[in-house]
Amino acid sequence: MPSKPILVVTRHFTDAVETRIARDFEARRNPNDRALTPDELIAAAEGADALFISPAEKLDATFFARVPKSVKAIATFSVGYDHIDLAAAKASGIPVSNTPGVLNDATADVAMLLLLGASRRAYESQQLVRSGEWPKRKPADLLGWQLTGSILGIYGMGRIGQALAHRARAFGMTIHYNNRKPLPESEAQGAIFHDTPESLLRASNFLSIHAPSSAETKHFLNRKTIDLLPQGAIVINTARGALVNDEDLIAALRSGRIAAAGLDVFEGEPNVNPGYLDLPNAYLLPHIGSATIETRTAMGMLALDNIQAVLNGQPPPTPIPL
Ligand code: DGY
Repeated sequence: MPSKPILVVTRHFTDAVETRIARDFEARRNPNDRALTPDELIAAAEGADALFISPAEKLDATFFARVPKSVKAIATFSVGYDHIDLAAAKASGIPVSNTPGVLNDATADVAMLLLLGASRRAYESQQLVRSGEWPKRKPADLLGWQLTGSILGIYGMGRIGQALAHRARAFGMTIHYNNRKPLPESEAQGAIFHDTPESLLRASNFLSIHAPSSAETKHFLNRKTIDLLPQGAIVINTARGALVNDEDLIAALRSGRIAAAGLDVFEGEPNVNPGYLDLPNAYLLPHIGSATIETRTAMGMLALDNIQAVLNGQPPPTPIPL
């Protein structure tokens, strides 16, 4: 029987994914189930055929300069690939793949959870119950902002943005969006296209960020762009923390210029700017956008499809465009 390919697996995955890994590969495991440093990953990769990594592992230019020649495929367990230096990946000639498409619903669900949680002051409400202060609550306390009849601005109308639009429509929200170009399907469903982010921001009572992280989108939301939003707007981010200038958003949340924010992603995560932590109007989650059993399994299976295609001499089904 031919020997199985050697696969470096940096994290522990769902049972179905683990079963397939055990069946098809000689797996090199990271017993600690924590992100590997570039040095640890290079050491583990020596003589390996492929790497199955998480978005917490940073593949920078020095990593690609040192990656062992035995490595023929790299698959990240994420749709986002801001942790990978694309120019260096291209120069290395190693096919690198991600997991688009399979996490749209799970991530859009979390965007909806944040919209509801931030607008209905779910964090403060939970605290009131748990602290035993509920009996002191007055009728005008904890009033939120209603989704029905509000405008939801979606910055980046990709698959996740469209899945959120579908959900928000059912809550009676009107959808406005900014994207590289208008999308006929979204227009047919009544969504209103804005050809600039500035125009979108001016219209949006609620803003949900869905653009990829890049040099162009870094700190998209900052003091200047916050000032374009209507007074008391609500901001949601399930994309990447780097799209938000934290200091500017924290100042706007403190002053009430922004009524509330719902954030699942943070620049520098898992570290979180401490300014958010004592803000009652910041509804914070630890990057759980794709965290359902079904979605994490689909992501793992797609990552393995990508690796096995390359090891069988085929292009990966979902390559990262280099
Ligand atoms: C992704 O897949 O990019 C999600 O944000 C999880 O990291």
